[in-house]
Order: sequence, then structure tokens, then C-alpha cells
Amino acid sequence: MSETSESMSPGMPRPLMEFSPLLVERIRAAIGTGGGAVSLSRYMEMALYEPGLGYYERTPRIVGRGGDFATSVSVGSLFGELMAYWIEHEVGVSEGLSDGPLEIVEAGAHDGRWAEDILEALLRGGGKDGERFCYRIVEPSATRQAWQRERLARFGDRVVWSEAMPAQVRGVILSNELLDAFPVERWCWSTDQRRWVEQGVCWKEGRFDWIALPTPAPMEWKLPEELQSVLPNGFVRERSPTAVAWWARAATALHAGCLITLDYGLEAEEFLTPGRSAGTLRAYHRHRVFDDLLSFPGEVDLTAHVDFSAVAEAGLQEGLVPWYRERQSRFLMRILESTQRSSGRFPDWSTQRVRAFQTLTHPEHFGRGFRVLAQGRGGAPWGRA
Ligand SMILES: C[S@@+](CC[C@H](N)C(=O)[O-])C[C@H]1O[C@@H](n2cnc3c(N)ncnc32)[C@H](O)[C@@H]1O
Repeated sequence: MSETSESMSPGMPRPLMEFSPLLVERIRAAIGTGGGAVSLSRYMEMALYEPGLGYYERTPRIVGRGGDFATSVSVGSLFGELMAYWIEHEVGVSEGLSDGPLEIVEAGAHDGRWAEDILEALLRGGGKDGERFCYRIVEPSATRQAWQRERLARFGDRVVWSEAMPAQVRGVILSNELLDAFPVERWCWSTDQRRWVEQGVCWKEGRFDWIALPTPAPMEWKLPEELQSVLPNGFVRERSPTAVAWWARAATALHAGCLITLDYGLEAEEFLTPGRSAGTLRAYHRHRVFDDLLSFPGEVDLTAHVDFSAVAEAGLQEGLVPWYRERQSRFLMRILESTQRSSGRFPDWSTQRVRAFQTLTHPEHFGRGFRVLAQGRGGAPWGRA
């Protein structure tokens, strides 16, 4: 989501029960089964992904100008063209990958737009070079897979699908704004108890509400003692074990090449600043941001900043080596410079494309909050050996 849309606004989606009584009933049933509460992560899983009812199951048209939020993909085809160039000229010539087939595995493909842009760029000109690429979309949802199949039909069997990450990948595993869409847990600092207390979701007086969950094991954030002593009561910190586990699984699958994600997020210590005391979880609807996180299940996007420290650590634990950990603007700028140095084919710079590049890199759009985390197996990338 572009940070430009991050302004508080009173415009509200339709009221809770009107929109999806069935989804509300299912979440209430889960709360009942859970003894009166579920974790926020269970609530989010249902609100976003409940088959046929969750926010990401309803329509492909939530990304872009007419939807709820913008992503780098919705800025235009340039983002895919730059990634295609990077895949071909950097990943494709890195140690151990300079010849033979190269698999591009995307997760979080939503409506398949990025895949379309990347494939079109790789296959442009119809030369032999394009023949080495095979594109796999990892998509657990049958609904979203159908949207993607429709959009990508013309690429025939060059695109394949699987519900889960394949066992071995030789090439690149990529995602844009995937990890911020994973469910998160919500933890609140209690000054009385001097520990983090998990907040879950209950049903109270006709609406979903927050409730403290029993927390048998203490949550360890590895906080310096001096920081713990100044954290105000109720300071909120989310964590996403799902995102970390996903990255670890992808890292294990990567046999040779690069695992890369582009997203907005923070390093661990950046979460613990006064401006983040309410946590980073937000609800998006029609390019507006809401603090009311529980009133519109299925109708608003729920998204939290990625903890890049935790995710990166998971990749290192699986034996990957660092490639990039930097702002999206810097990453894309380097690709741009590379296209200008090389004699390779890259489309001409129309006014529209220059504008798209500015949107992808300008601090007020996708340039500041968005970062790139890339880790590799089997050698350093081009220019870094
Ligand atoms: C914020 S959208 C980003 C869509 C697109 N990548 C873009 O940048 O425009 C996140 C997407 O990730 C999908 N997603 C969530 N969990 C996933 C998983 N485990 N595997 C694959 N996709 C997933 C969501 O359904 C949604 O389509």
C-alpha cells in the first residue's frame, strides 16, 4: 500500500452485519469454540481468507485506483519490466545459474498482474533467451488461482500453479506485498505485570472487541532492560509467526538463486518508537486508513508492517546469505542504472514511464516505506562477489 493513502478519515464501509453476516457468524462460532476468544491472527485469517467470504476471496478488483489500495504492481507495467531485467541480468547470471532453465516462483500473485508484466518483458522480442524461464505461481486459494489462470491464459504451459511451495527451486522466489498480508498476533506491554500480554478478539455487546488472552509463556522480544523500563502501558507490538514460517519454508526450498520480497516494514528496533505505540496494524478501504480494526471483517484489508529483522533471521537460519536489505528506491535505481549501461533491450522512456518510475521511488510514494529483502543460496549476485 502506498503511504500516500495513509491519512485518518471518517469515511466508513458498510456496517458490520449488513455486509457479511455469514462471515461474522463463522468468526463468532470460532470464538465460541475457543472458549470466548480467538487470537487476532485467527480472526485475521478468517476475515481475510475464509474461503468464499474473506476479503481476499471476494474480488480481484481491490488493488489499484478503483480498489482499496495501490501497490507497486498497480503503478504500471514498469515495475514488472524492471524485475524482469533484474531476473535476467542479475539472478540469471549469478553463480550456479548462468545456464539451464530458471524458475520464477511468485507467491501472493493476487490477480496475476505482476506475473503478466514480468513474463511479457522476459519474452519480448521472442528470442531464445526467453525459453529458459518457467513461471510458477504458488496459490493456495482456488478462487484466486482462477483469476490468475484467466489473465495468464495466453502464456500457455509456461505458467504453472501449485498450492504450496515446491520442494526445490532453482531460480528466484519473489513476492510483492505478500508478508504484510499475513495474519499477526497482537501483544500489549503491561507496566504492572512487566510483561507482554496477548490481545485476542471476543464478541461483546453486538460487536467484536479486544480481550486479554491467557499468556502462559512469557513473550521474549529480546528488549534491552532500559527500553523495557520506559515502554508505556498498553504499547502495542504485533508479530507474525506465519510470515516468518513462510520465509523459512521458501528459504528451505531455494536450491540455488534468490529469495526476494518487496514490502513495507521495519527493523525490530524501529517498532519500538513513540510513533508506533498503537502498533502498525491498519484497515484499508477505498484508499483510506481506519484505526477501527474489528468492525468490518471481509470488507476491509487488514495489514501490518513486516518485521524484516525476524524474517531475515529465518532465512539466515536456513543457510541463505544476504543479497539486499535496502529501500525499494535504491534497489530499483540500481536496476535502472544497469539498464542504461547495458546494450540489452529495455523499452524507451516515455513520459508515462518516467512518471511511473518516480512513483515507485519517490519518498512520498513507494520510495521510503518500501524495502527489499533478498537472500540467496549458492553465491553472491552480480557485482558483489
Ligand atoms: C496485498 S496483496 C498483494 C498483491 C500483489 N502481489 C500486488 O503487489 O499487487 C497480498 C496477496 O497475497 C495473497 N496471499 C496471502 N497469503 C498467501 C499465501 N500463503 N500464499 C500465496 N498468496 C497469499 C493474498 O490473497 C493477496 O492476494
